[in-house]
Amino acid sequence: MTISHHHDVLIIGGGAAGLSLALRLADHASVAIITKAPDKDGSTYYAQGGISAVVTDQDSFESHISDTLQAGAGLCDPETVKFTIEHGPENIKWLEKLGVPFSKEASNTGKRKLHLTREGGHSQRRVIHAADATGKALSDTLTNHAKHHSAISFFENHIAVDLITSEKQGRSTKSNNQCIGAYVLNKKSRHVETFHARHVVLATGGASKVYLYTSNPDGSTGDGIAMAWRAGCEVSNLEFNQFHPTCLYHPEAKSFLISEAVRGEGGHLLLPDGSRFMHRFDERGELAPRDIVARAIDHEMKRLGAACVYLDISHRPAAFIISHFPTIHARCLEFGFDITKEPIPVVPAAHYTCGGIVTNLQGKTNIGGLYAIGEVAQTGLHGANRMASNSLLECLVFAESASKDIIEKLKTPDEKNEIAPWDESRVTDSDEEVVVSHNWDELRRFMWDYVGIVRTNKRLERALRRTQLLQHEIDEYYSNFRITSDLIELRNLALVAELTVRCAMQRKESRGLHFSLDYPPAKENSVAKNTVLTPETNLTNNIKIIK
Ligand code: FAD
Ligand code: SIN
Repeated sequence: MTISHHHDVLIIGGGAAGLSLALRLADHASVAIITKAPDKDGSTYYAQGGISAVVTDQDSFESHISDTLQAGAGLCDPETVKFTIEHGPENIKWLEKLGVPFSKEASNTGKRKLHLTREGGHSQRRVIHAADATGKALSDTLTNHAKHHSAISFFENHIAVDLITSEKQGRSTKSNNQCIGAYVLNKKSRHVETFHARHVVLATGGASKVYLYTSNPDGSTGDGIAMAWRAGCEVSNLEFNQFHPTCLYHPEAKSFLISEAVRGEGGHLLLPDGSRFMHRFDERGELAPRDIVARAIDHEMKRLGAACVYLDISHRPAAFIISHFPTIHARCLEFGFDITKEPIPVVPAAHYTCGGIVTNLQGKTNIGGLYAIGEVAQTGLHGANRMASNSLLECLVFAESASKDIIEKLKTPDEKNEIAPWDESRVTDSDEEVVVSHNWDELRRFMWDYVGIVRTNKRLERALRRTQLLQHEIDEYYSNFRITSDLIELRNLALVAELTVRCAMQRKESRGLHFSLDYPPAKENSVAKNTVLTPETNLTNNIKIIK
């Protein structure tokens, strides 16, 4: 018999977005949070630089808005930008009240005040942080509060397989489609359980694991985007994958980021011969927005045939470096680099998914009862390139606004929905798990090679063909064998790869993070449009299958 769970709200994801939402709802509703691993599986835990918000009189909403719009290369939604930035200060106060241990410094009045650091694209110091481990501080505090609230139930080691909608259950049409729960694999029992909920929230993070080299943890497999797409959501702007300019270059240093705050505090980017180069690409030098810095590094590495470039902060006092960047200092020492004395070898890596599920200012998708918040969503805040530290801000602000909407909706009476149990007929275990690991590697490699920092039409066409082939193979496997966590993730990654390539093919210009050798950079005053894939876009019908 299928195990069933019933809650007012099901939140899929326990990062900054999911946990903040749960805490904001907990006095009004019963909440289930499901996560793929016990903790540290989302990006939130690893965030370094901080959270941007206007918290001093020297700064202004206008300035933060203007910097965000500029970094977004003409594609941000101005209303979303204003909304997010104006709700920043109250969210920082909320976090301080919960006890997040942000870094502080002495003020003129003798009272301790928030220490603000700086990152690329920001014309002011406005990044609130907890040394260089802001994500850990945030995650630990939110998790601790959520785990002690009686209205919040945690289901760790559970991976959502698919959303349950009234349309899929044969009870409505596309136009009045309603999300009523999710099928979820319990990774320990290996059975699929049914979660019923009046409101379902995707807070599943990004999809950077679609690339071979990434700063992200293993769980960033785009599950939310894939599930939403299969349920009938609109997705948009997936061509804008952000590549962080500086990840540690070392064969054993998987996914270790060197925060942009290192450049914010004076770090220089150097070529192997020790010379600086960023001024040749942008007058803001090392503090230009990320798309520009990552592209400049990629260009110089290819020009020189260099395996990496270097980031040097050793000209600052050792005590300053160690107190501001204790995690980076310690981690680099483990790999034999003392950042107080020598430059750090760095390379760009996939870091952030700017596109995602299309939502409004309350995080609502085009399916009734279904919300998407955090990195999984495309709210219009980031446009063609996210400005540093605006992501955690977005998680917090949209958790707050979605909670208000959900609390209001919970006042209407509940309709009881019967849900068909998961089809357990696929009970055969695969004897060829190698297919999954092989396809996983192949996918991530061709996405890196063909849909990376610099693209061409030909590379995108090649990538599209490969995503189709892989999806056929994966679908066959999916229909025949018992599902596993790896298979669920691979199936989602392959779909997100195709959606990414399709968005990239729609964009006939170079803009922000999407740079194609076949199209010139968009003119500054040209009309910017989102690339939108709707449920009517039938992918397989549009694609020539190569047999
Ligand atoms: P995540 O924190 O990624 O959490 C996703 C959650 O969803 C996880 O709990 C996961 O288990 C769960 N999940 C996913 N799929 C499923 C499924 N199928 N079933 C069940 N659960 C699922 N941004 C900033 O603003 N400032 C920074 O300083 C900063 N530094 C960063 C440093 C690093 C190394 C990285 C990788 C990112 C950084 N970012 C930063 C980006 C930022 O951390 C993320 O965008 C943000 O944390 C995303 O939060 P989230 O809640 O949307 O998702
Ligand atoms: C960093 O610390 O460089 C990451 C900041 C971000 O991704 O916003």
